[in-house]
Amino acid sequence: MASMTKEHEAEQQERIRTTPAQAIPGRAGVARAHANVALVKYWGKRDERLRIPWASSISMTLDGYWTTTRFTALADPSCRTFLLDGAPAPKAAAGRAAHAINILRERYGLPTDGENSGYFLESWNHVPVSSGFASSASGFAALAGAFADASGLKDIGHRELSRLARLGSGSASRSIDGGFVEWHAGTDDASSYAEPLDEHPGVDLRMMSVMISDAQKEIASTEGMRRSARSPYFSVWVGQCEDACRRMREAVAENDIEAIGSIAEGNARQMHAMTLCAGFTYFTPGTLAVTRLVEQLRADGLECFWTCDAGANPKILVPASNENQVAAAIAERFPQARCESSGFGPGIAIGHHQNREERKEDDA
Ligand code: PMV
Repeated sequence: MASMTKEHEAEQQERIRTTPAQAIPGRAGVARAHANVALVKYWGKRDERLRIPWASSISMTLDGYWTTTRFTALADPSCRTFLLDGAPAPKAAAGRAAHAINILRERYGLPTDGENSGYFLESWNHVPVSSGFASSASGFAALAGAFADASGLKDIGHRELSRLARLGSGSASRSIDGGFVEWHAGTDDASSYAEPLDEHPGVDLRMMSVMISDAQKEIASTEGMRRSARSPYFSVWVGQCEDACRRMREAVAENDIEAIGSIAEGNARQMHAMTLCAGFTYFTPGTLAVTRLVEQLRADGLECFWTCDAGANPKILVPASNENQVAAAIAERFPQARCESSGFGPGIAIGHHQNREERKEDDA
């Protein structure tokens, strides 16, 4: 206990150093959450405002990529600042964060305008845009954690945190926990949350992103989901996801890499086939070339599987023992592509649980 108190003191010192003058006493919080990649995708919102999905999804939390966020409540309502990596956040990101903060405050009866409705938000992203991994999941999960810490929600559990993170970005609901995580679709705010499927997986898997393109995706995920709902295959997709989750749970319980990879690849295929039928695709010729290579490597006896989110850059799920060979094959065939990879990561760390080294690094 003594060392926890010391840690807590250090945390307080740091807050005093970096907190703006009009901060409401005691109203500052910090959290760190890791990125995740879905193996069974979330693609389709039953309720856009509350971000309730049509189907459940399953992801892998990543060790190598995370966001640290500090939230400070301010008395001055005109100060709503969001610094991302030390610089003012782009307008779209600031707007999304402001919206999420309003929803969180409304939920707990905290002021959304007038006195005490300002804030100072700082985020440090250890998910470089160039990595091919999305930072919205870790970003909104860390924001939910920092907000809970700042608002004195001491007894908040991971289930509620996951629901809070979900309000900022659907996939963020899965970044509260580590390892394999399942987001239960549910039907309303209370029943739609993620929880660990296996926090300490018995399989040594790596997720590799293959950056073949730096281009921004043309269709943001919310719009892509809207359009997909008009696909004649949408209802088939929703049913397939529930089935894939059921099979994935079994595969995870059995540490069956072949099954985990096949289910993930099949689910990604179905998602992207459905978007094609809705009249658009995230795939480029490069995406297809990489997925084809993965299939070829597998046919040649090297176990690896592909998945792909709402963008052109595929990801490869590979047993750690095969990673170097797969990376070498990618480098040979696509010399311009950048590869990044990560194993399983932990769940969220809130407030004084974050260690000092991490905070120093974040402040650098
Ligand atoms: O949470 P959003 O709105 O960024 O949507 C994520 C959608 C996918 O990444 C394609 C799939 C998923 O489950 O993460």
